[in-house]
Amino acid sequence: MTAQRRPLIAGNWKMNGLRATAMPLAGELATKMNNADDAFFDMLVCPPATLLEAVNDLALETNLAVGGQDCHMNTSGAHTGDISAEMLKDMGCAYVIVGHSERRADHAESDEVVKSKAEAALAAGLIAIVCVGETEAERDKGITIDVVAAQILGSLPEGATAANTVAAYEPVWAIGTGRTPTSDEVQEVHAMMRKTLAEKIGADEADKMRLLYGGSVKPSNAVELMGLADVDGALVGGASLSHTDFWAIAESCPK
Ligand code: 13P
Repeated sequence: MTAQRRPLIAGNWKMNGLRATAMPLAGELATKMNNADDAFFDMLVCPPATLLEAVNDLALETNLAVGGQDCHMNTSGAHTGDISAEMLKDMGCAYVIVGHSERRADHAESDEVVKSKAEAALAAGLIAIVCVGETEAERDKGITIDVVAAQILGSLPEGATAANTVAAYEPVWAIGTGRTPTSDEVQEVHAMMRKTLAEKIGADEADKMRLLYGGSVKPSNAVELMGLADVDGALVGGASLSHTDFWAIAESCPK
């Protein structure tokens, strides 16, 4: 983290949340963000599509940002069940996650598809959170750096800048497992990501771009992870469903 990068704490609710519990969760976070006049981080929640409208309405005129968990690469058309980036923007969203490993695995999304989705997000005026990360087998083979570098190069949208794109490193084997890489391993991947980005979009934009870590982030490991030089925030799954845990993670960012 450096002074030129404001931390982003993003909650990916995945396929969780009904109105009865999700609305109080969003409400607590919006209130906390508004009361924290010195908030030194940006906070984002990405609810399931069914809650986007309600959470966006609640977050209106608060400092809590709302995003989608995925978008289609096209703006409209015959794609039953899909949502376009333009629709997310129309609803009030500021961000969208693209290329989450669960989408890559469950929906066979390639880097090429993820790139197209990220480009659709930028075209709609959304900030794209582009996810990358190795599987356990890839880490065991010692090819993490190569895999993540290839994903970054293949998934980054044309026209990516620090203002319109965030990159998130989420090792697949760390998601929902309670296991995390060591701090040195996280920093090694993030430093490589920034170097790869510098070659692609220039050192200035790469230095300003926020790189999130995701995968079993919780209050007990957040201080260490958020304190790493090239980690600029977190993409949180399970712990984002508790407003106290999520807020504690946000407050773990160095000021
Ligand atoms: P967990 O925090 O539950 O490990 O999930 C991480 C994640 O996939 C966020 O996108």
